[in-house]
Amino acid sequence: MNVTRVLTGITTTGTPHLGNLVGAIRPAIAASKRADVDAYLFLADLHALIKSSDPLAVAQSSREIAATWLALGLDPAQVHFYRQSDIPEITELSWVLTCNAAKGLMNRAHAYKAAVHANQDAGEDPDFGITMGLFSYPVLMAADILIFNAHEVPVGRDQIQHVEMARDIAQRFNHNFGDIFTLPKAVVDDNVSVLQGLDGRKMSKSYGNTIPLFGTEKQLKKGINKIKTNLLEPGEAKDPHDSTVFQLWCAFADEAEREFMRQAFLDGIGWGEAKTQLFERVNDELAPARERYRQLIDDPQQLEAILQAGAERLRPHSATLLARVRDAVGLRPYA
Ligand code: TRP
Repeated sequence: MNVTRVLTGITTTGTPHLGNLVGAIRPAIAASKRADVDAYLFLADLHALIKSSDPLAVAQSSREIAATWLALGLDPAQVHFYRQSDIPEITELSWVLTCNAAKGLMNRAHAYKAAVHANQDAGEDPDFGITMGLFSYPVLMAADILIFNAHEVPVGRDQIQHVEMARDIAQRFNHNFGDIFTLPKAVVDDNVSVLQGLDGRKMSKSYGNTIPLFGTEKQLKKGINKIKTNLLEPGEAKDPHDSTVFQLWCAFADEAEREFMRQAFLDGIGWGEAKTQLFERVNDELAPARERYRQLIDDPQQLEAILQAGAERLRPHSATLLARVRDAVGLRPYA
C-alpha cells in the first residue's frame, strides 16, 4: 500500500477551546486513524516564540496543548507526535533553506504584509515590532514540512500560502542542489466546521470569545451561559439557523438529537433551558476527556516521556535527510 505522509503543526499559543476541538482536533484525530496515512502531528513551539515573549505562557501553552490532544484520543503509537524544538534538524534545515529562499517571496507573505500595513495605518515605521522570526516564519514552516518529506499538509485557509511557499522553496532547492525534497501540497477541508464564539463571530482566541475545552464543569457552564442570544421569550418560536446555541449543539449531537433540538427551537424552548441542555450534552462528551486531561497535566513526566519517545522515533529520519542536505550544499567532512 502507498502511504501518504500527512503532516501538520499546531502553534502552541493560548489555551485550547471548543472551536479548536471541532475545527482542528477532531478531524485531525479521525484522519490519523486512516490506514493509508502516516500521520505527523507536532507542537510548533518554535513558531510560538514568534508570537509570544512570555516564557511562562510559552511553556504552559505547549503543555496544555499536548495534554489536550492526548486526552482527546490522539494515539502516540499511531501518530508521530512530537515537539518541533525536540528535532534540532528542523532548525538547521531552516537555516540552509533561509540561504536559498528568495527574500522577495517572503515579502509577499500575508502575515508579514498585514503587520507592515498595520504599522503604516498607525503612522509607525513599517518595520515597527516586526522580528526576523515573523519575517522568516514561512521558511521555518517549510523546514517542518520538508524535513519529513510530507506529501500533504492539512491547514486552514490562512495557511495555504505558507504551504505553497514551502513548495516553492523545495522546488528551488531541488533545482539548485538535486532532487531531495518531496513537493508538498496543502489540503483544505471545506467541510470543517467553524464554530461560532460567544458573540456569534468565529470562535477564536484573537476575538476573546472562546469557551475553554478543559476548564472546570462550572466554567463550561458559565461559558455556555454567556453565549449571546436574542430577546425572544420562552414559548416564542426561535430560528435554529440563526443561533450559536443551536450551532454548538449540532457540533456535539447526533442526527436524532439535532432534529429534536430543531423542533424544540420551533416550539419555543426558552434560552435558559436550551443552554442547560447544551451544557449537559457538551459536558457528557467532555467529562471523560477532562479526567484524562487532568491526569496528564498533573503528570508532566508522563507527558514529557511521550514527546521524547515521539522525537526519538523520528530523529533517525530527520538526521538522514539533513545529512543529504548538508552534502548537497557542500557541508562535507574533509575525509
Ligand atoms: N503556521 C501554522 C499555524 O499557525 C502552524 C504550523 C507550523 C504548521 N508549522 C507547520 C502547519 C507545518 C502545517 C505544517 O496554523
